[in-house]
Parts: sequence; C-alpha cells; structure tokens
Amino acid sequence: MAVSLSVPEADLALVRTASPLRPRVAVVLGSGLSGLADVASDAAVVPYGELSGFPRVGSVVGHAGKLVVGMLGGVPVLLFQGRAHQYQGVSAFDAAYPTRLAAGLGCDTLVVTNAAGGVVPRLAVGDLVVISDHLNLMGTNPLTGWPGPDGGFPFIPMRDAYDPVLRATMLDVAARQGVRLIEGVYAGLLGPSYETPAEVAMLAGMGADIVGMSTVPEVIAARALGLRVLGMSLVTNAAAGVGLSHAEVLEAGEKAAARLQRLVTEFVTRL
Ligand code: HPA
Repeated sequence: MAVSLSVPEADLALVRTASPLRPRVAVVLGSGLSGLADVASDAAVVPYGELSGFPRVGSVVGHAGKLVVGMLGGVPVLLFQGRAHQYQGVSAFDAAYPTRLAAGLGCDTLVVTNAAGGVVPRLAVGDLVVISDHLNLMGTNPLTGWPGPDGGFPFIPMRDAYDPVLRATMLDVAARQGVRLIEGVYAGLLGPSYETPAEVAMLAGMGADIVGMSTVPEVIAARALGLRVLGMSLVTNAAAGVGLSHAEVLEAGEKAAARLQRLVTEFVTRL
C-alpha cells in the first residue's frame, strides 16, 4: 500500500490552535536533552498523547513526551521533548513522525539531537559532535512504501543530507562560544541492546565516529520532505564501555546539556 508522508489534519489543527506562533525551525530533543524546551518562552505544550498520529509507546526514563511551541533566542520554534524509537517497537515511518509533523506545520529546518556512544578514541564523554553524515544500519527506512514526490520515484538523494551550510554555521557558533565541537559520522542501529566490542570495531572500520539508536529515520524523512537538517550528538559514553548503564547516559546528558542548549539557541538566531 502506498504510504503518505503527511500527518493527520487534526494534529496540525491541534498545534495551530495551541499557539499563534508559526515556527520554521523544529528541534528534536534526545535522551537527557529535553531541558531546552524548559527555557523556551511563550510556551504552549501539546502532550504527545493528544497527537493522534504520534506512535503510542511506553515511556523510557529520560524521554519527556511532549511538543512545545515557543520562542528560543527570539525565534519561534517547535521543540519535541523526546521521541519514539524503533527499539520500542515502532516502525521507521512512525519514528519519523516529528519530521512529518514539522513539515506539515511549515517548518523548513530540522535540528535533531541525540545521546550517542563514542566509537573512536578521539571522542571523550561530554563531547559534542555535529553530524556530518550517517550510516543507516537500522535495517529499515521510513520511506518504505512511499511512492515518492508527486507519485514519482522514492529514490531520495542523501548526499549532504546534513546541510553543509548549517554545519558550518554551527561550527562557527561553537568557536565563538569556546565550545569544543567535532564533526563526525553517526551510525544508527536498531538497539535496544548496546553494541558488542566486535560491533564497535566493525563500526569504526566502516567510518563511524558515534553510534546511537535514533535520528536516521527522522533525517531520511526530512530529506524526502525537503527540510534542511542539522544533527547534534552528545557523547554520553564510550561505545561498548565497561558497565554502561542508561543512568550514566542520562547523567552525562545533564552535564553537557547546558552547553548544547547555548549552541542551539544561538544557532537558531542565525538561520
Ligand atoms: N550505543 C548506542 N546508543 C547509545 C549509546 C551507545 O553506546 N549511548 C547512547 N546511546
């Protein structure tokens, strides 16, 4: 059956009614990074449960589960506090719901953030990475069954999926703020188990710098819908690190969240 990338009209109406703001930028906040939504002003909140198209998943600690429409650095933004992951049993198509909603509401830019494991030794816990490219190792694609733009071919180009101009802007913002920011390739895996040491060695050999369990479906859908993408990862652990726990991932997130918030806030003012 052909899949439409649009979201239910009721969801668009709900968000438009909740706030008079008309954001062009959407930000997806990953594990432990939801705090950015708390600093938004003029905020209107829509719990994910009220959005009929948002996939129904049990909550994972660290993922807040609501959409905030508000002002960040004087710019109207759509902030997704938490996401649905494929490891929770949702399809790639459903995992890309934030992208589809953002596009439906008229956004032209998507900022995705996530917690990730560091694959290469040059990355330390707490480092911030601007994603230069990804490896889709999730075994799925959100465009499966989609007929393509205007019913044509669904073969979406993925070169420069992470917009080179936006990356340069973010690197400039980081340099001005004195924040260490490194470019890197993100490997997206299905999860939910973390990687084995052998898998981490494989990922390094494939050219991955960081590894996580999200982002890829959102970014592929964004390119299909014509949104520009910036991706930011927070290195919360060394992949296949000893004694890694979800609590450690969240703790590292809290510590670096303030730095990431300042970067994203200045970034949106530059768009
Ligand atoms: N692997 C996969 N996903 C992750 C990791 C990791 O080490 N850390 C945070 N998300």
